[in-house]
Amino acid sequence: MTDRNAAPACGGDVFIPDPGANGATERRIRELGPWFHNLQLGGVRTAPDHFLGDYPAVKWRRFAHAVPLDLTGKTVLDVGCNAGFYAMEMKRRGAARVVAIDSEEFYLAQARFAAEASGLDIEFRALSVYDVAALGERFDLVIFMGVLYHLRHPLLALDLLREHVVDDLFLFQSMQRGSTRVEPAAPDHPFEAEAHFQRAGYPQLYFVEEAYCGDRSNWWIPNAACAEAMLRSAGFHIAAHPEQEVYLCRRAPLPDAEPRAVYPRQEAAR
Ligand SMILES: C[S@@+](CC[C@H](N)C(=O)[O-])C[C@H]1O[C@@H](n2cnc3c(N)ncnc32)[C@H](O)[C@@H]1O
Repeated sequence: MTDRNAAPACGGDVFIPDPGANGATERRIRELGPWFHNLQLGGVRTAPDHFLGDYPAVKWRRFAHAVPLDLTGKTVLDVGCNAGFYAMEMKRRGAARVVAIDSEEFYLAQARFAAEASGLDIEFRALSVYDVAALGERFDLVIFMGVLYHLRHPLLALDLLREHVVDDLFLFQSMQRGSTRVEPAAPDHPFEAEAHFQRAGYPQLYFVEEAYCGDRSNWWIPNAACAEAMLRSAGFHIAAHPEQEVYLCRRAPLPDAEPRAVYPRQEAAR
C-alpha cells in the first residue's frame, strides 16, 4: 500500500467518490483519503467503492465469533492498524486499553479521526512492527492482520511480536496464494529427497520481486501450509482457524532450541 495515488489494487487503496453527503465530516474524510478501510463516520462511508466490497466489515463478519465477545479488563495491541477498524471493534467489545500502531502517519491520521468521530478512546502510535520492543509491555490480545505480506522480513516480525508484546492471544491474517492444502509437517527429510518440495501441501512462500496487484509493498505471500508453519515456528499454537486466512493463536513455547533474531537482544529486552 505504498503508492496511494495508484489505481485501486489488491491490498491497495480506494479513492472516495462523491457520496452525496455534505458537512464537515465528509470534507475531513475527503482530506484524509484515500482510505483502505471502509468505515461509516457520521453517516458517510470512507471507501464506498472498495474493490473488496464493504471491507474489512465483510471479512470481520466471517470470523468475529472466534474473538472473545467480552474483552472487559483486557489490553489489546493492533499492529498495522490502518484506519483502525479492528482497534475500534476491540474497544466496542469492552477492552480496557487499546493501543494501535502503524508505520504510516497517513493511515494513523485517518485512524485518529475515525476513533474520535466514533467516540472511542484508543492510543495511536507511529511505530513499525520491527520496533515493538519500544512499547515495553505485553498485551492480552495482539492483532496482526494483513501486514505479514507487506514485510521484507516476515518471520522476524513474528519472532519480535512473540518475544516482546504477545502475552496470550494472537489474531493473525495473511493474504494466501497457491494451494490451500496443508500436509502435516515432517520432522526431517533426507538430503536426496526432493518430491515433497513439489507437493501442494508443503509450505511455500512466494517472493514478489516487483509488484503484486499494482502494489510494490507486497513482498512475501505464503500458501496456507506456510502461514501455519510460520506461526508454529515462531512459537504460536493455532487455537482456531475460523476463516481461510485468519488464525486465532496462543503464545506457546518455541518448538525448537534454534536462536531467533530478536532485537534488542533478549537480555537487553528484559
Ligand atoms: C493491508 S493493510 C491491513 C490493515 C488492517 N490491519 C486490516 O487487516 O484491515 C496493511 C497495513 O500495515 C501497515 N504496515 C505495513 N508495514 C508495516 C510495518 N512494518 N509496521 C507496522 N505497520 C505496517 C500499513 O501501513 C497498512 O496500514
